[in-house]
Amino acid sequence: MGRFFFFYSFLCFVLLRSGCFSSSLDHQLCSPTEASALLQFKQSFGVNSFPKTKSWNESRDCCSWDGVTCDMLNGHVIDLDLSCSQLGGSIHPNSSLFQLHHLHTLNLAYNYFNYSSIPRNIGQLTNLRHLNLSDAWFEGKIPTEISYLSNLVSLDLSDSYGLQLDERTFETMLQDFTNLEVLSLYLVNISSPLPVNISSSLRYMDLTDTNLRGVLTESFFLVTNLERLKLRGNDLVKGVFPKIHRSNTLLMELDISYTGISGELPHSIGTLKSLNILNLEGCQFTGSIPDSIGNLTQITELILSLNHFTGHIPSTISKLKHLTILHLSSNSFSGEIPDVFFSNLTHLQRLDLSSNSLSGPLPNNASNLQKLTQLDLYDNLLNGTIPCWLFSLHLLRPFLSLGKNQYSGLPDELKTNPALIKLDLSNNQLSGSVPQSLVNLTYLYTLDLSSNNITGPFPASILSLTHLEYLDLSSNSLSGPLPSNASMLQELFFVDLSYNSLNGTIPSWNLPLLSLLWLNHNQLSGSFPQSLVNPTNLSTLDLSSNNITIDEGINITFPSLEVLKLSSCELKDFPHFLRNVKTL
Ligand SMILES: *[C@@H]1O[C@H](CO)[C@@H](O)[C@H](O)[C@H]1NC(C)=O
Ligand SMILES: *[C@@H]1O[C@H](CO)[C@@H](O)[C@H](O)[C@H]1NC(C)=O
Ligand SMILES: *[C@@H]1O[C@H](CO)[C@@H](O)[C@H](O)[C@H]1NC(C)=O
Ligand SMILES: *[C@@H]1O[C@H](CO)[C@@H](O)[C@H](O)[C@H]1NC(C)=O
Ligand SMILES: *[C@@H]1O[C@H](CO)[C@@H](O)[C@H](O)[C@H]1NC(C)=O
Ligand SMILES: *[C@@H]1O[C@H](CO)[C@@H](O)[C@H](O)[C@H]1NC(C)=O
Ligand SMILES: *[C@@H]1O[C@H](CO)[C@@H](O)[C@H](O)[C@H]1NC(C)=O
Ligand SMILES: *[C@@H]1O[C@H](CO)[C@@H](O)[C@H](O)[C@H]1NC(C)=O
Ligand SMILES: *[C@@H]1O[C@H](CO)[C@@H](O)[C@H](O)[C@H]1NC(C)=O
Ligand SMILES: *[C@@H]1O[C@H](CO)[C@@H](O)[C@H](O)[C@H]1NC(C)=O
Ligand SMILES: *[C@@H]1O[C@H](CO)[C@@H](O)[C@H](O)[C@H]1NC(C)=O
Ligand SMILES: *[C@@H]1O[C@H](CO)[C@@H](O)[C@H](O)[C@H]1NC(C)=O
Repeated sequence: MGRFFFFYSFLCFVLLRSGCFSSSLDHQLCSPTEASALLQFKQSFGVNSFPKTKSWNESRDCCSWDGVTCDMLNGHVIDLDLSCSQLGGSIHPNSSLFQLHHLHTLNLAYNYFNYSSIPRNIGQLTNLRHLNLSDAWFEGKIPTEISYLSNLVSLDLSDSYGLQLDERTFETMLQDFTNLEVLSLYLVNISSPLPVNISSSLRYMDLTDTNLRGVLTESFFLVTNLERLKLRGNDLVKGVFPKIHRSNTLLMELDISYTGISGELPHSIGTLKSLNILNLEGCQFTGSIPDSIGNLTQITELILSLNHFTGHIPSTISKLKHLTILHLSSNSFSGEIPDVFFSNLTHLQRLDLSSNSLSGPLPNNASNLQKLTQLDLYDNLLNGTIPCWLFSLHLLRPFLSLGKNQYSGLPDELKTNPALIKLDLSNNQLSGSVPQSLVNLTYLYTLDLSSNNITGPFPASILSLTHLEYLDLSSNSLSGPLPSNASMLQELFFVDLSYNSLNGTIPSWNLPLLSLLWLNHNQLSGSFPQSLVNPTNLSTLDLSSNNITIDEGINITFPSLEVLKLSSCELKDFPHFLRNVKTL
């Protein structure tokens, strides 16, 4: 018996040491006072059915409870993970939680503490290494007592809109928490200047949207271990990007988007050799991108959209072989897109060059862009014939937007990705008739060729696009009659053919879903069309600036019409049936 007991204890010890403790063993490792503190904490939230605390039961060792971890040698509770536990209400200022002095880790993230404040007594848990109160609906001033937690390695107070941190406590965290590696204060209102003295232990700092102000200084680039720095959405408008004389960091991510930082990007940006992610979106940068950007050879995401950058896109970007995301939209980049982009950036997944002044043709071959799933070239000065490869890309959002460029032609033959459903070629210089190759875009539901210089008759190829819902050919030079039969286009909802030179009468199209029809500013003639007389879904009809007559006594009902514009039609007597319709 004695031998057996000894063996049992020994086994237990071995199991504990090896971390294989099984709750079926009767031995109570957990200290009774800590078990009772945990149960009191559970009971303070009333209901009993929370995912983790459900398993908390006096008849079992507290070390086996869900979310509870003990020190296997002395039985103290050292780790309490009650994240996502549907705890609701507030924590009493004198809660039994604060008796768990041995806690190393406390995670209460993703609960609902009902806009209550973080209790001051949190400062008693001085052994804490990891404190996580992320997205837990705490509100109000973060107690200064939090600065007693100087052993913290990670502190996550993020995503609790309405928490405030005073400047002194913030400084204490950054300077005196000498083990602090992870600090996440996203959305906490700090309202202080950007710190200068930062503990070199910090690896990760998320200060996104924390109401910080001031100037980004070189000091951030001297924090030896800093890997990720997120300052998005703070008001740093007074500053420029500092010249980096010496960089101690292993910085992998720098996000200073929407901070208002202005001036030029210094050549020394190229010294941040470990960067994976650089996000400067929505700032006030001017000047050109320094060639040294090509030294950031580890970079995967380069986001420079919404600034005032000018000049050419440096061809050194093509050295950034790991790039997956390149966003340069809404700047004033000019010149041609370097060909090497399309041959060397083989990992590129998202390319956004929209709203710049990039000119010239795109290369005819981009077979290396196998991974591209998002592409936006809208609003540039690209010209020549639209290259075929654009149509065969396997885009995630199969929308091809080449509007507002200077393209003069579509390829004669198209081998397309059938997934392409939206094509915008508006505001280009497409001339001549619409090429027959359009018929291959079988699944298009939006086609916008408006504001080009397309001539000839209404393009027959369009009649084979049987999924079309939205068709805009306005502001071109189409002439001749409208097709007499459009019954293949049963899905059509929106048709704009205004500002062309179409003539003849309005045919009797039977399009049950058609809601918006613009035929104004053409040379159409004849009587008000019988096809539009029958009840339809039309809500907007514009026939103005044509030569349409309306026969007296015609019996028309428009069940859905909201806007009717006939102003320059030759109306002898304004018919009775139209009186209730708003005319423009
Ligand atoms: C605790 O567990 C025992 C046995 O598993 C069970 O009989 C008892 O009802 C439980 N108590 C609570 C409060 O859940
Ligand atoms: C949340 O707080 C409000 C008022 O402070 C209170 O009326 C309500 O009962 C609290 N809800 C919970 C779940 O404690
Ligand atoms: C807080 O709790 C402890 C132990 O539960 C107790 O001794 C003390 O009196 C309480 N203090 C207050 C202010 O409630
Ligand atoms: C805080 O906890 C949440 C939920 O478990 C987790 O997603 C998050 O990464 C944690 N924060 C830190 C800094 O570990
Ligand atoms: C960084 O880039 C510049 C310009 O491309 C180049 O002249 C320089 O040698 C590069 N520096 C290093 C250390 O690679
Ligand atoms: C493009 O890639 C090739 C092969 O890796 C390399 O030799 C060339 O220098 C690269 N071009 C540029 C401009 O980086
Ligand atoms: C494209 O534009 C460039 C100027 O940016 C011009 O030199 C070239 O002739 C144009 N090409 C075509 C086909 O219009
Ligand atoms: C349509 O695509 C096929 C192959 O997918 C091709 O052979 C044919 O020439 C294309 N037709 C037009 C008009 O582009
Ligand atoms: C449109 O085409 C016509 C004839 O093809 C030409 O005279 C006119 O200059 C072109 N307009 C534009 C804006 O290209
Ligand atoms: C329509 O315009 C064409 C020229 O574009 C002309 O040949 C034809 O006679 C016109 N038809 C009518 C009915 O006006
Ligand atoms: C409008 O059409 C009528 C015949 O329907 C014709 O007599 C008249 O000349 C046309 N007006 C114009 C400006 O073409
Ligand atoms: C107009 O047509 C509707 C049915 O389409 C009919 O009920 C109504 O009596 C007609 N009104 C006149 C004045 O002919």
